[in-house]
Amino acid sequence: MDRIVDLIRAKRDGEELTLEDFERLVNGFTRSEIPDYQMSAFLMAGYCNDFTDAEATALTMAMLNCGHRLDMSDVPKPRVDKHSTGGVGDKVTLVAAPIAAAAGIKIPMIIGRGLGHTGGTFDKLQSIPGFRTELKMGEFQTQVKEHGLAFTGQTDEISPADRRLYALRDVTGTVECAALIAASIMSKKLAEGLDALLLDIKVGRGALIKGRGEARKLAQLMISIGRRMNVSVQALLTDMDQPLGFTVGNALEVMEASQTLQGQGPPDVTTLSIELAARMIYLGEPSRSMESARDQAQQLLADGSALTKFRDVIAAQGGDPEIVYRFDLLPNASGEQVVTSPRDGFIGRINADDIGRAAAMLGAGRDNVEDTIDPAVGVILQSKVGDQVVAGQQLCALYYTAETHVAEAVQLVEDAFRLSANPPEPRPLILDLVQ
Ligand code: URA
Repeated sequence: MDRIVDLIRAKRDGEELTLEDFERLVNGFTRSEIPDYQMSAFLMAGYCNDFTDAEATALTMAMLNCGHRLDMSDVPKPRVDKHSTGGVGDKVTLVAAPIAAAAGIKIPMIIGRGLGHTGGTFDKLQSIPGFRTELKMGEFQTQVKEHGLAFTGQTDEISPADRRLYALRDVTGTVECAALIAASIMSKKLAEGLDALLLDIKVGRGALIKGRGEARKLAQLMISIGRRMNVSVQALLTDMDQPLGFTVGNALEVMEASQTLQGQGPPDVTTLSIELAARMIYLGEPSRSMESARDQAQQLLADGSALTKFRDVIAAQGGDPEIVYRFDLLPNASGEQVVTSPRDGFIGRINADDIGRAAAMLGAGRDNVEDTIDPAVGVILQSKVGDQVVAGQQLCALYYTAETHVAEAVQLVEDAFRLSANPPEPRPLILDLVQ
């Protein structure tokens, strides 16, 4: 096919495209030779007709090959990373990665910005004054060698195609497509020179993927793409119906992650962090048992080794490690608006997407990639699903620096809480393992 419009037509008409077709599209788009309007039409055609597994794999390879791959050959093994498909209040990476690094796992982590109502590790770390989220390749490799863990954002060298494609998907309604999600995640992660990858696929109202069946299919697709590249991939499907922990917003989440690393975190964040860290350790050393990896993860959290690791990494990337104890050193919001319960009852539901949207409206998230983030703002929940409350009791508080969208955000948060006369059925936090 000669012209890009022919590739768009072919995808529109349900034909299967080849690796060569995807290379033309991805390389042309990354070099700005294909305009956004043609790529948008292509993405929507793919979203509507879906991609075969062979196409998803070809798209991943085209995206991977269009950027640099990290040469991690002089970083000792095992090199393992984790990736979350995105949630609300999901600060688990900031806890699980230091635990796994303290166990000797090497983690070269490329981190993403939050978009829409979900947060990104990039923005959370940027709320730490001085923290450098864009490391040069050499610095990144050296830090992984010395500290076992380094974080860096996507650049024009590392996964440039995903950076541009994700931004376009976000404004064209084409984010929630399994093949596009798989290619986006795997093209970044396969560039890291990994031995193994753990996926945390979020499922529920606050997630891109709403149902378990769909999540399982996405997991299987990413596992098969990993296999082609000799990277062992496992996926945990985890609940994202209500926000994780109590805080939503960048500096607020760094604060809660720091508390968790000091043994004072919310039960859901602590449990999930230990489970993910244990599985990263196990993936790095598959000859041992999951039970012994879990015991080690618990121990490294309890004895302060993971906290020390997080502080070392913050210092190595230019931030002040004292922020883990002194939250006044993090950006602080100037305004507070409390939301209270309208009546007695049990909290039956807290819609994670509404809470995420409210936080984004206050400035914690973006509508477009160019939007700037306000690191100080967000929401702190006082209660979680299943808690009993009385009329007038505080449910949560919104923290803001500008009044502009406060009333709208309060409305969203009020609507997010659903009260019931009886306690709801408890929902498991960890839904499934796909391997
Ligand atoms: N996370 C990513 O990195 N890409 C997606 O497309 C979705 C979640």
